[in-house]
Amino acid sequence: MITEEVILPTLFQQQRLGSIGKITVVSRRGATIEHLRQVFPSEKFAGFPDPAKVDSNSSQAEGYKDAVKKLPKPGVIIVATPDHLHTPVILSAIEEGHHVIVEKPLCLKVNEVYQIAEAASKNAVYVLTDYHKRHDPSIRGAKYKYLLGELGQMLHGHAWIEERREMPLKHFARWCEESSPFEYIGVHYVDAYYFITGLKPKRLVAFGQKKLLPQLGKNAFDAVQASIEWEDGSVFWVQTAWVCSEHNSALTNQGLQLLGTEGEYWADHKDRHCHFVTQKNKYEDYNPNFFKTFNSWEPEEDFEVRGYGYESIVQGINDIALLYQQTAGLDVNEAHLRRKQIIKKLEPKRALPNQALIGTAVNEAVRLSLANNDHYVSFDSKMNPLLS
Ligand SMILES: NC(=O)c1ccc[n+]([C@@H]2O[C@H](COP(=O)([O-])OP(=O)(O)OC[C@H]3O[C@@H](n4cnc5c(N)ncnc54)[C@H](O)[C@@H]3O)[C@@H](O)[C@H]2O)c1
Repeated sequence: MITEEVILPTLFQQQRLGSIGKITVVSRRGATIEHLRQVFPSEKFAGFPDPAKVDSNSSQAEGYKDAVKKLPKPGVIIVATPDHLHTPVILSAIEEGHHVIVEKPLCLKVNEVYQIAEAASKNAVYVLTDYHKRHDPSIRGAKYKYLLGELGQMLHGHAWIEERREMPLKHFARWCEESSPFEYIGVHYVDAYYFITGLKPKRLVAFGQKKLLPQLGKNAFDAVQASIEWEDGSVFWVQTAWVCSEHNSALTNQGLQLLGTEGEYWADHKDRHCHFVTQKNKYEDYNPNFFKTFNSWEPEEDFEVRGYGYESIVQGINDIALLYQQTAGLDVNEAHLRRKQIIKKLEPKRALPNQALIGTAVNEAVRLSLANNDHYVSFDSKMNPLLS
């Protein structure tokens, strides 16, 4: 879904702009490649598995290994497999010395974050988690004003992110039982609270409901909520679901409220006060900020894509291009040292593994709380979740 809707349109645009060269899409099934060729009939990309050579519905789970080995440098691996299948792809990319952009969350276990961080550090490789909400101007604005002190000290906050039922029933029918609406989308707002405040979570308690999806043949949560206490004593409530009505006016209800000792922030991230009503699509809330296609300003181009979904991936591509530019012509050891310096400088400002750790730790703690009758879960000094 994200590959079709955001990643590929971003890459095709960067290709047109000359910032990247060849693109290879690797999936499990040739049918996915066939589908993408229908969606993007005039774009050039290689596809694996090749539907002309194998049964397009047979599953090739290991094909990425060969593709990673074959990728020439400079290159970048973008990982957009389901949440529970990120780690093996990331590790095989790092092993080949490739830089990585991975869809959020980085992975689902704290120990895997450390495994990834260690491998990345050993090979001086850049691993960016695409927490695209960090690029939403409305969240960047909250961070800017929080850091100016205009909100004072955090007291509490509330985030809601809830999607239409087509997500577990149609798009993620194969993997919704391995995930939850908290792991898949709630983590965006956990990362946003951390991004805005720099605070780390201290303990949490989670709740989940399985009422509708089991009736529809899926042993998956309809909704999951967590109340997270942070190191300064502030509390953040995150409510998530993926069984909203199919008639909802956008795929995702979402928003954030924060209260500090000096002020508040309130944003409806779904309703940007912009909607269309058409014969084709009925009523639709329209978020021009996330990822949309517009007419291009360039005389030779018909359209362009823009938004925080685009900017977030392009930031990773640009960082990786910089790493290659700055190490061109250096010998292996010098290049390794230079990459380490560049990555260290970027670290405070990017969702590299040390920052992506927070979302993963909270996801793992929520899973632990749910599995233990909504027990409190705290974190040790390395952010490992512990049953309280
Ligand atoms: N859908 C969104 O709007 C969205 C937004 C932000 C981030 N994400 C994240 O992006 C990731 C992918 O989500 P999605 O919505 O695109 O899911 P999806 O189920 O639509 O797509 C996942 C794809 O990964 C492929 N895959 C699985 N195992 C593979 C393997 N071993 N080798 C190659 N391909 C393999 C599947 O065949 C499928 O095509 C998830 O981590 C998700 O949390 C999704």
